[in-house]
Amino acid sequence: MVKSGYVHIPFCRHLCSYCDFAKFYYNETWAESYLDALEKEIKETYRGEVLDTLYLGGGTPSALSFPLFSRLFTILSSLRRSPSLEFTVECNIESITREKLACMKEHGVNRLSIGVESSHSDRLRFLGRTYIKEEVRETIALVKEMGFTNINVDLIYALPNETLEELEEDLSFLLSLEVPHLSTYSLMIEDHTKLFLKGYHEIDDSLDATMYQMIHDRLVSSGYQHYEISNFAKEGYASRHNLTYWRNQEYYGFGLGASGYLLGVRYTNTRSLTQYVRGERNPIIEKMTPQLDMENEIMLGFRMMEGISKERFRAKFGKDFKERYQSLPLWKEPVIEETETSYRISYSYWYVLNEILVHFIGE
Ligand SMILES: C[S@@+](CC[C@H](N)C(=O)[O-])C[C@H]1O[C@@H](n2cnc3c(N)ncnc32)[C@H](O)[C@@H]1O
Ligand code: SF4
Repeated sequence: MVKSGYVHIPFCRHLCSYCDFAKFYYNETWAESYLDALEKEIKETYRGEVLDTLYLGGGTPSALSFPLFSRLFTILSSLRRSPSLEFTVECNIESITREKLACMKEHGVNRLSIGVESSHSDRLRFLGRTYIKEEVRETIALVKEMGFTNINVDLIYALPNETLEELEEDLSFLLSLEVPHLSTYSLMIEDHTKLFLKGYHEIDDSLDATMYQMIHDRLVSSGYQHYEISNFAKEGYASRHNLTYWRNQEYYGFGLGASGYLLGVRYTNTRSLTQYVRGERNPIIEKMTPQLDMENEIMLGFRMMEGISKERFRAKFGKDFKERYQSLPLWKEPVIEETETSYRISYSYWYVLNEILVHFIGE
């Protein structure tokens, strides 16, 4: 039974130098047509399930002008919600206003995810961000004043020439914001981004690993659980929506370039805005086979501290996880830990997760 929905809003007020998400410069006319097409997609594809998590991502949902922002929530009111709905909206510093926060409160939004990325003005400029850290402080204070407590903040680290001292300062800054969830991403230089075209490269692997360890040590000693490769949360604040993905459960994906997983089929809508507003979603479809589904269960499950649930694995695939993969060389070393309810990767191997996952593909 589907219990989650993702909704993509592909507009931003500025475009960042590193970003390869489906997004366009904000344009009111396009945004209006986009919401018409989104409403149509929801009408045509939503089958009326009660949703337990809703996630508005982008792009930047908060970049919409207030009338369109407000209309978006009216459109989404056709989605049925459980009383314990977790409703997240991605926002960025420049476009959060008191008026938009009040509108979100009124429509049941109870979690905000805010891109902060760095506390250093020169680094923020390099990333194409247009605020300074004092504005971050003011915005987080406003968000809290408006009654939001479940807040996530994103950090990007491993920038070219970034020093460990700078990262330490960024972490201190994030901690000083006193929010219960932090996401930390190593900078990826994606094809076709400004940074790629300017010839930038990702930093050396060993420095990246040192930074990863430093983030883990600092945040865990500050009371956060490192519950997923890139995510840290205080007790009770893990993102329930993202856990749906990592637990390999089904979810709706509405909007441009949005991915979903329904009735055993994974799909990704077109990234062409003109096609999407014409109602042509042209999804790329991947039908799950038991083998593909099992590989996804492993690739996603091993990202989490909770690991792969023994019970879910057996119920879905009719076999015990350990017996199924008994022949792999991984069991000889303490790579995989067995808990009462799950199998998980020992924390010290998280950094080399991809090398471990290779063993399970096509096995
Ligand atoms: C859709 S964006 C966040 C929402 C909002 N548009 C913003 O930028 O504040 C999601 C997050 O992904 C991360 N991200 C995007 N591109 C990345 C890249 N190339 N390398 C590392 N992190 C990236 C950033 O931390 C960003 O905040
Ligand atoms: S990082 Fe966020 S604000 Fe920047 S271009 Fe990407 S989606 Fe837009």
